[in-house]
Amino acid sequence: MKEEIIIESKFTKYPNFDELPESDKQLVSVAISAAENAYAPYSRFNVGAALIDTSGIITSGNNQENAAYPSGMCAERVAIFSAFANNPNIVVTALAVIASSDNKLVAAPPCGSCRQTILEMEKRQNSPIRIVIAYDKGVFLIANSIEDLLPLSFTRNYLKD
Ligand code: THU
Repeated sequence: MKEEIIIESKFTKYPNFDELPESDKQLVSVAISAAENAYAPYSRFNVGAALIDTSGIITSGNNQENAAYPSGMCAERVAIFSAFANNPNIVVTALAVIASSDNKLVAAPPCGSCRQTILEMEKRQNSPIRIVIAYDKGVFLIANSIEDLLPLSFTRNYLKD
């Protein structure tokens, strides 16, 4: 017999930047600065990401576009790959992502490929990554793990040995 199932995701909503916990404010501020250096001449959609690891080191990234569009890279993956490339054994505790268009903060939920990449790193380090997302009209959404943004995810568990 068919059955409808509901898979739930949990987010904490903060109405504005000022009400964020201090550690999240710091990460969002770094992400905002990173977005200023984005290379986004085609979309004019500047994205900034910043992550922090257990030793307190912050790594940022921004989107890097290309005339051959698919050769570009999202801000989140620039930050994540940079952090793990330089320190393969880090444990990332939080990642913030923001976007700006015409110098205004706009919603920046991570794309599917970035979600999958963040999930891979969660599995790799075996601990969850807090995700701080700039959402509509200055609101921030926070999830305790990328799993809240990627239900029914594909992981190494599905690969044959
Ligand atoms: N972009 C990101 O940097 N992160 C995302 O999660 C979504 C999209 C970038 C890619 C491209 O440079 C621009 O935003 C417009 O899609």
